[in-house]
Amino acid sequence: MDIEKKVWEVLCSEEDIKLRLSELGKEIAEDYKDKNLYIISLLKGSFIFTADLVREINIPVKINFMTTSSYGHSEETSGNVEIVTDIDEDLTEYDILIVDDITDSGLTMKFVKDHLISRNAKSVKCCVLLDKPDRRQVEIQPDYVGFTIPDKFVVGYGLNYGDYYRNIPYVFVVTEKDR
Ligand code: IMP
Ligand code: MG
Repeated sequence: MDIEKKVWEVLCSEEDIKLRLSELGKEIAEDYKDKNLYIISLLKGSFIFTADLVREINIPVKINFMTTSSYGHSEETSGNVEIVTDIDEDLTEYDILIVDDITDSGLTMKFVKDHLISRNAKSVKCCVLLDKPDRRQVEIQPDYVGFTIPDKFVVGYGLNYGDYYRNIPYVFVVTEKDR
């Protein structure tokens, strides 16, 4: 990974993210105060977003993780979403909020949402840090969105390229430097 040859264009700074998460956390806590909130976070991309978001939600909440796959190491979705690790529990009592890093084609979110509905969860909504509506291939609109962004491949704050950049604390676009 030759970082010297890259240009980093920051889309969401650490301050932007912190502020937006505190707003989202308050909104979610208010909407779910009389419900049975169960956050299901989609690994690996949403691990940092989820860790920060749940600390802004001041009502009781259960948290669990599901692993899905579709991208491998490519920038484009393969179109086939698979559940690699499911939730091993009866979900009928819970108001589920799926948390993911980004909704791009929408295939992952739609697949996971339909799956959790088919498992008879009481309700199923979605929350994403980033929404790229221009890329949508299926009809799905996340209920809570951190930032709506243009059609660019972004990394950082959990989002990866080839499993790198997840640790960078802000969201940015990487491009090759012109020679
Ligand atoms: P979708 O199924 O096409 O909506 O894509 C969902 C998943 O693809 C996300 O959870 C991410 O893991 C990955 N993904 C989509 N767009 C990007 C991007 O710009 N950067 C990094 N990962 C992305
Ligand atoms: Mg993902």
